Amino acid sequence: MNENKPTDPYSITDVSQIFSPGLLIFRDLLEQNLSAMIEMAGGPDRLCPHCKTHKTREIIRMEKELGILSHKCATIAEAEMLASEEIPDILLAYQLVGPNLNRMAELIRKYPQSRFTSLVDHPQAATQLAQVMESNGSEMGVLIDLNPGMDRTGIDLGADALELMELVMTLKGLRLEGLHWYDGQNRQPDLQERRIAVNSGWDQFIRFRDQVLLSGIPIQRIVTAGSGSFPILAEKGEPGLQLSPGTTVLFDSELAEIFPELPFQPAMAILTRVVSNNRPHQVTLDVGHKSCAADQPAGDRLRFPRFPLAKEIGQTEEHLILMDPGVDDLNLGDHLIAIPRHACPTMAVHKFAHVIAEGERVDQWEIAARDRQLTC
Ligand SMILES: Cc1ncc(COP(=O)(O)O)c(C=O)c1O
Repeated sequence: MNENKPTDPYSITDVSQIFSPGLLIFRDLLEQNLSAMIEMAGGPDRLCPHCKTHKTREIIRMEKELGILSHKCATIAEAEMLASEEIPDILLAYQLVGPNLNRMAELIRKYPQSRFTSLVDHPQAATQLAQVMESNGSEMGVLIDLNPGMDRTGIDLGADALELMELVMTLKGLRLEGLHWYDGQNRQPDLQERRIAVNSGWDQFIRFRDQVLLSGIPIQRIVTAGSGSFPILAEKGEPGLQLSPGTTVLFDSELAEIFPELPFQPAMAILTRVVSNNRPHQVTLDVGHKSCAADQPAGDRLRFPRFPLAKEIGQTEEHLILMDPGVDDLNLGDHLIAIPRHACPTMAVHKFAHVIAEGERVDQWEIAARDRQLTC
């Protein structure tokens, strides 16, 4: 055997037990991504990875074994999955409203071994959360969600944000922990450009943080960063800082292309098969937009390592038409590996993933929190 021969990380010895379209997780690549995240962050305690990317218990357990004990999530089902895995520190990166307030209170009651924190960006939300916590005899941690210029959620830096912090300090049922700064708008492919944008936002954030400290409000915790700002904010040394990338865990072909400097590799993919091949240079595969993320523009939802220049010329619910001169060699039933442009929504449309290690199918993991429906 030629020891120097490059091995294909996506090759699978026997695909006969894998129905298509089938979600795949390449465990070796996942392990490498987790180690690279810990190294980039400067230690597992500086990470609070977002579990919305994978929604999977087994990955939470792998992270826990590596010493990652803080996790971010976006839904109450994800929070419940984390709590049932005995994660000590759970940050619901979402402001609670409506019946979700009581659902959260129930979760806190059911899992006393976990400490729960959520985001707040408005006095009304803070007051309502405090009322529900107090009436349930519970307490919830709060991070003030600041708007880093993404204009999605978050209160603008300034006097109103400071007032909100003062209010939270006075409310029974809430425990003010610190600040949340998710600058997900920073996706500039040019690293230098991204660095300038991330640092300029961070300078403003630090000026506000200093103002808060001067006014006598303690800040124990700052949770920040998505995949794009992760390498830049990982260089910061503020006390209590935690970095919260999510996509880096499984990674995808979009981030591999726009952030080429990141040391992660796509660790999830879809196994798809040729279901029709009657036209030259064209095959139809069983990977429609019901089995991969469809938030990317049509024609740009998947990458095929075997045919890197292939064009997606049409996609319907259960079919993809792929065009490339190389596909003429494919027969009906042949399989291809497709790497989604966006990992997170792809995970959410599959019920389970086949786990591949060293080219063998070794396990099956449920995407446990995919449908928001875990019950308390
Ligand atoms: C609040 C919050 N934090 C962290 C992340 C993780 O960012 P990324 O997916 O770029 O790793 C997201 C992603 O949507 C997010 O919304």
